[in-house]
Amino acid sequence: MARARDLSMGLVLLALLVSCFLVASESSNVYIVYMGDRSMNLNEQDLLEDSHLHILSNILGSKRAARNSILYSYKHGFSGFAAVLSQSQAKLVADFPGVVHVIPNRILSLHTTRSWDFLSVKPDIVNGILSKCKSGKGTIIGILDTGIWPESESFMDENMDNPPSSWRGICQAGENFSHSHCNRKIIGARWYYRGYEAEFGKLNTSDGSEFLSPRDASGHGTHTSSTAAGASVENASFMGLAKGSARGGAPSAHLAIYKICWSNGACSSADLLAAFDDAIFDGVNVLSVSLGSYPPLPTYVEDVLAIGSFHAVARGISVVCSGGNSGPYPQTVINTAPWILTVAASTLDRAFPSIITLGNNQTLQGQSLYTGKDVNKFYPIVYGEDIESEDSDGESARSCEAGSLNATLAKGKVIVCFQSGSQRSAVGAIRTVTEVQGSGLIFAQFPTKDVALSWSIPSVQVDFITGTSVLSYMEATRNPVVKFSRTKTTVGQQISPEVAFFSSRGPSSLSPSVLKPDIAAPGVDILAAWSPASSDYLQTDYAAVNGFVPLHFKIESGTSMACPHVSAIVALVKSIYPAWSPAAIKSAIITTASLTNEYNLYVGAEGAPHKQADPFDYGGGHVDPNKATNPGLIYDLGTSDYVRFLCSLGYNYTAIALMTKSPTKCRKSPKFLLDLNLPSITIPELMNNHPLTVSRTVTNVGPVESTYVARVVAPIGVSVTVVPQVLKFDATRKKLKFKVTFLPNINVEGGFSFGYLFWEDGSHEVRIPLVVRTVVDQFYADA
Ligand SMILES: *[C@@H]1O[C@H](CO)[C@@H](O)[C@H](O)[C@H]1NC(C)=O
Ligand SMILES: *[C@@H]1O[C@H](CO)[C@@H](O)[C@H](O)[C@H]1NC(C)=O
Ligand SMILES: *[C@@H]1O[C@H](CO)[C@@H](O)[C@H](O)[C@H]1NC(C)=O
Ligand SMILES: *[C@@H]1O[C@H](CO)[C@@H](O)[C@H](O)[C@H]1NC(C)=O
Ligand SMILES: *[C@@H]1O[C@H](CO)[C@@H](O)[C@H](O)[C@H]1NC(C)=O
Ligand SMILES: *[C@@H]1O[C@H](CO)[C@@H](O)[C@H](O)[C@H]1NC(C)=O
Repeated sequence: MARARDLSMGLVLLALLVSCFLVASESSNVYIVYMGDRSMNLNEQDLLEDSHLHILSNILGSKRAARNSILYSYKHGFSGFAAVLSQSQAKLVADFPGVVHVIPNRILSLHTTRSWDFLSVKPDIVNGILSKCKSGKGTIIGILDTGIWPESESFMDENMDNPPSSWRGICQAGENFSHSHCNRKIIGARWYYRGYEAEFGKLNTSDGSEFLSPRDASGHGTHTSSTAAGASVENASFMGLAKGSARGGAPSAHLAIYKICWSNGACSSADLLAAFDDAIFDGVNVLSVSLGSYPPLPTYVEDVLAIGSFHAVARGISVVCSGGNSGPYPQTVINTAPWILTVAASTLDRAFPSIITLGNNQTLQGQSLYTGKDVNKFYPIVYGEDIESEDSDGESARSCEAGSLNATLAKGKVIVCFQSGSQRSAVGAIRTVTEVQGSGLIFAQFPTKDVALSWSIPSVQVDFITGTSVLSYMEATRNPVVKFSRTKTTVGQQISPEVAFFSSRGPSSLSPSVLKPDIAAPGVDILAAWSPASSDYLQTDYAAVNGFVPLHFKIESGTSMACPHVSAIVALVKSIYPAWSPAAIKSAIITTASLTNEYNLYVGAEGAPHKQADPFDYGGGHVDPNKATNPGLIYDLGTSDYVRFLCSLGYNYTAIALMTKSPTKCRKSPKFLLDLNLPSITIPELMNNHPLTVSRTVTNVGPVESTYVARVVAPIGVSVTVVPQVLKFDATRKKLKFKVTFLPNINVEGGFSFGYLFWEDGSHEVRIPLVVRTVVDQFYADA
C-alpha cells in the first residue's frame, strides 16, 4: 500500500511508476486481440461479440472457458477483444484470419485557474473566444482518467443546456455513485476495471481509498475535468493560496467521464481501448487523455492509445494527449502519432515566493506551498550531508533520500539538501525530513516554478545559486540559523510563459519527421477541483498528528494539467466550426500559437534561462486561444493520409488494410513521410549537396478572395525556397499546393536547426516551424 500511495503523487508519479510497470508486464497474461475497423451497423454488434467468443472457444476448447477468459468485446469504434490467455494461446489467436495484432496488455500511467485569465480566455473580453464560441455550448469533452467527484462545485449544472439529442452515453452506477450524480454538466460516466484487476488483483475498496464506480478517489480526473469544462467557482483556493475564481476553459461544454485509471495512478491498456470504443459510440467531440507509457514506444499499429485515437479521429473526434513528464531530455516525448494533438507544459505568471532570512539578516528568495505554522522564527540549520545516518550509503544524503539522515542530529533543525539524479523533486526530501522530525527543508534544484506541496513542515525550493549561498553562510558561522516567511501568491511578476523543466521534449523517437510536441499550454502549479477522498502520503503523515483536511481544490503540475487546457480550446473551436476535421482544428491551434510573451521576449525553456525555447520544446509555440478561431489557412489531413503515413513507415500492409478497411496502395516511402500535410516540416536527415523538396497544401478558411505571400526565416545552415511565392484564393480555388526546397549550405553534420515559414495576407500570419538537421553523406565523404 505504501508504494501505491507514492504513485498518487503528481509529478513523482511518472518516475516511480517505471518499476511498477516492469513488475506488471512480466506477469502479464492479458492480451488485446485487435481486429481492425468495422462497419458502423448497429445490428452487427451482437454478431461481432459472437465472433470474438467463437475465436476464443476455438482456442480454449469451450464456450464456457471463452466466457471466463474474455474481458471486453470491442465492437463500436473497431473490432477486437481483450482476454486472459497464456503465451501459447496468444500465439494461436494471432494466426486467426482477421486478427491484425495480438498486443500484450500494458500498464500506462497518469502523467487551475489563473491559467485561463493568463491565456486571455475571459468572459468579459468583447469578441473573445468565450463569447464567440458561446463558452463551448453543445460540445462534449470525454475525459479518460481517474473518474470524477460529482459534488464538486465545478460540476454544478446551472445554466447548462440538455445534452445534444445525438448523445448515446450512459451514467453507469457503482459504489457511491448513482444515476443522479450525472446532470447537464456530467452527461455520462462509465468505469473500466477488468484489465486492471487481471493485472493487479481485486481492487479493495473497503477502506474508502477507492470506489468501484466513476467516483474519483485520486483527484487527478476531477482536476483535468474541471480544467477543461468546470463551471466558474468563486473564491476557490488551495488553503488560501492562489485564491480566485476557478473555472474551466469551455465552461458551457458537457463532460463525459471514462474512469480507466485507479488511485495508484496505473491504467490498463485493455481498459483504455474499451473506453475509446464506448466514447466513439457515445458521441463525444473531443477526448482528453492525460496518460501514457515510457519509451521505447510501441509502433503505431501496436500502441493501444494510437489505435484507439486513430479510430476516434477517423470519426471526427479530436484526441488531445499529454506529452509526458520526462524532460528536459531530448527524445522523451510520447503519444506522438500524427493524428494526436500532443501537449507540452508551460509556466504561468503566478508564483509562490517565500523569503528565507539567514542569521546574519541576509534575505534570499525561494518558492514554497506551505500554509501551516512554524514560520517567522529562527531554527538551527544543517547540511544533510553533514548529518548522514551511518546506515546510509553516502551518496544519498545530498538529496535527503529515505533513511539518509541521522534522526538524533536532524531533530528540530532545518535541513539543506541538493537535488540529485535519483531524487529529482522535493517531495521525497520533504518526507525524509518529516520522518526525522526536522523543522524545515531548503531544497536546492534546477530553477523551476513547479513547487511541491508541503503539509507538516515548511519547505522552500531554491535554485543552486541560492542553495550555495546558504551553504557559504553556514560554513562561515558557528551556530547558523534560518527563518522562513509565510508563502504569498504573486501574479504578473514573472517572465512567462516558459516551457516547464519536466515537460518531455522532441524529436519523437518513433517518427522523427513528425514534429512533437505540437503545442505548449499551462501545466505548472495549476489550481483546479480535487477529490476530497484523495490523500497523498505527506497529507496522511500530517493527518496522523493534526487530523484529516479534505481538499476540494488542489495545485498540481504536469503535462496532465496542460492537456485539458488544449482539449477545452479544441471544444471551443469545434463549437463554431463543427465541420472542421481534427487535423484542421489542430492546424488552427498550431499556426496561431505565440512565440513571445507580452514583453515581446521569446518564450524560454525553464532551467535554461538563456535558452530560447524551440519547436522540440513547444511545437508550434504557446497556445493562443483567441487567435485559434481565425487561422486564415489550415493544413488539413484525412484518414487516407494517415493510412499512407503508416505505409510509409514500412508497417505490414495486411495489418494496415485490416486496421483501416481501406484499399489504399501501400508502399514504404520516406518521401511521403516528409510530404504528410502537417502544419510543420521536419527533415531529420538532409544530405549535404542534395536539395530536398517537400510539398504542402493549404485550405483557405478566411475571406474567399485572399492573397497570401510566403516569408521564410531559414534554419541556420540551410537555404529555403518556396514555390509559388504567392497563393491567390477565390471561390473556385480554396485549396492550393506549394513546394518548399531545402538546400544545405554547410558541409558538416550539425544538430537540429529551426526556422519558420509564414503565409501572410495582411491580417493573418499563418506560421509553421521548419526543423532541419544536415548530415554528411558518408559514402561521398569517404570517396
Ligand atoms: C502481416 O500481417 C498479417 C496479418 O496480421 C500476417 O498474416 C502476416 O504474416 C504479416 N506479414 C509479415 C511479413 O509480418
Ligand atoms: C460511500 O458509501 C458508503 C455506504 O453507503 C458510506 O458508508 C460512505 O461514507 C460513502 N463514502 C463516501 C466518500 O461518500
Ligand atoms: C481490504 O482492506 C482492508 C483494510 O485495508 C483489510 O482489512 C481487508 O482484509 C482487505 N480485504 C481483502 C479482501 O483483501
Ligand atoms: C472566501 O474564502 C475565505 C476562506 O478562504 C473566507 O474567509 C471568505 O469568507 C470567503 N469569501 C466569500 C465571498 O465567500
Ligand atoms: C538583524 O536585524 C535585527 C533587527 O533589525 C537586529 O536586531 C540584529 O542585530 C541584526 N543581526 C545581525 C547579525 O546583523
Ligand atoms: C546518529 O548520531 C549520533 C550522534 O553522533 C550517534 O551516536 C548515532 O550512532 C548515530 N546514529 C546513526 C543511526 O547513524
